[in-house]
Amino acid sequence: MRNAQWKAASRAALALTGASALAAGMAMVLAAPAAAGTTLGASAAEQGRYFGAAVAANKLSDSAYTTILNREFNSVTPENEMKIDATEPQQGQFSYGAADQIVNHARSRGMQVRGHTLAWHSQQPGWMQNMSGTALRQAMLNHVTQVATHFRGQVVAWDVVNEAFADGSSGARRDSNLQRTGNDWIEAAFRAARAADPGAKLCYNDYNTDDWTHAKTQAVYTMVRDFKQRGVPIDCVGLQSHFNSGSPYPGNYRTTLSSFAALGVDVQITELDIEGASAATYRSVVQDCLAVARCNGITVWGIRDSDSWRASQTPLLFTSGGAKKPAYDAVLAALNNGTTPPPTTPPPTTPPPTTPPPGPGGCTATVSVNQWTGGFVATVKVTAGSSAISSWAVTITLPSGATVTNAWNANRSADAGTTRWTNVAYNGQVGAGQSAEFGFQANGTAGGLTPACAAG
Ligand code: XIL
Repeated sequence: MRNAQWKAASRAALALTGASALAAGMAMVLAAPAAAGTTLGASAAEQGRYFGAAVAANKLSDSAYTTILNREFNSVTPENEMKIDATEPQQGQFSYGAADQIVNHARSRGMQVRGHTLAWHSQQPGWMQNMSGTALRQAMLNHVTQVATHFRGQVVAWDVVNEAFADGSSGARRDSNLQRTGNDWIEAAFRAARAADPGAKLCYNDYNTDDWTHAKTQAVYTMVRDFKQRGVPIDCVGLQSHFNSGSPYPGNYRTTLSSFAALGVDVQITELDIEGASAATYRSVVQDCLAVARCNGITVWGIRDSDSWRASQTPLLFTSGGAKKPAYDAVLAALNNGTTPPPTTPPPTTPPPTTPPPGPGGCTATVSVNQWTGGFVATVKVTAGSSAISSWAVTITLPSGATVTNAWNANRSADAGTTRWTNVAYNGQVGAGQSAEFGFQANGTAGGLTPACAAG
């Protein structure tokens, strides 16, 4: 590996390891170092962040589309395929084919997945639209449980509840059949999601919550603060950030991001598009996110203008022909020049990584942790050095009291103390500079985990 590439990789690894010490844990993506600084995903990863796109399953057969997706992005949000009408078209009959296709496309290429969305007033299947009261509440909770369980361990963050507040000056909840089941429907959904997929970040997601002075923004802020105070499981707030003439990018956007972050949640820009795709506005959005330590990722709502739900606004980073627009260059430059201020809450306690640069045939491992009271999920990324490897083993010493209860994509030697993790049949072969991922869930407290990787 060239020195510059190693430096880029170690910067990203440092950001990753530092972040893993945060109690709430931030999901991070470490991109292949060879691409550092030249694509949206790699540049975001150097800043300890991801850069994602909304993806439609029916476009995965379009090679012009997948070429850009696979080259530029390291996070994916299914645009419609995880919504209620897609995943439970008939009550009790679940349908995951299109969502699984996106998840498999993403994860097999080392991209992370945001799940969107478990509970929403819109895009409900007919049977749910016709329900109310206790029956609807139960059906909604069952839906959350089933879908979050199906994708357990595969989705980094869930938009558990989408768009539950009203527009305008009321600061009230939006009227909907779900809202009419009782004001506690949102927290009930979050609790069900946590129980079903304890390793995922749980987000509240909404639009028109970008301007700090708006009643809707303040109402969401008050709810999140209340949830944190009462221990309702919430880890992140998603700002959709669909900007246009009626809902422009506000000058106080950074204040909104930092104010939510100060509540102790991650902040993610989840559905970014900007009417006309002003390069200056895209640049400002990226700079605002980079200025807030807990703004840990940006997703644009589509790849090419022709993929946008608002195609006539030409709001995205690529032309319909797949060319990079000036907004693309502005975003990439902002990602490459950005700085990450140290997180304020809580301070990192993990020592810097000591893993040496891998020689030919070697590997490195990095870990990100999502900790909650009494348990955690660790996601471990194994990256091959400058040569392909055919097997790997990662040693991780768990602090006393931590016991593994569940694991995926690796075999383990022990449930506690010094644990040795070896590849399973399908993920031992890792190409030069490529990565494989495994994970485990444990009781107890992770503290600073320091993985050591050996290649076979
Ligand atoms: C949109 C999709 O992009 C469209 O394809 C679909 O017809 C309607 O939904 N807020 C959200 C997204 O949370 O799910 C919406 O996506 C856009 C607004």
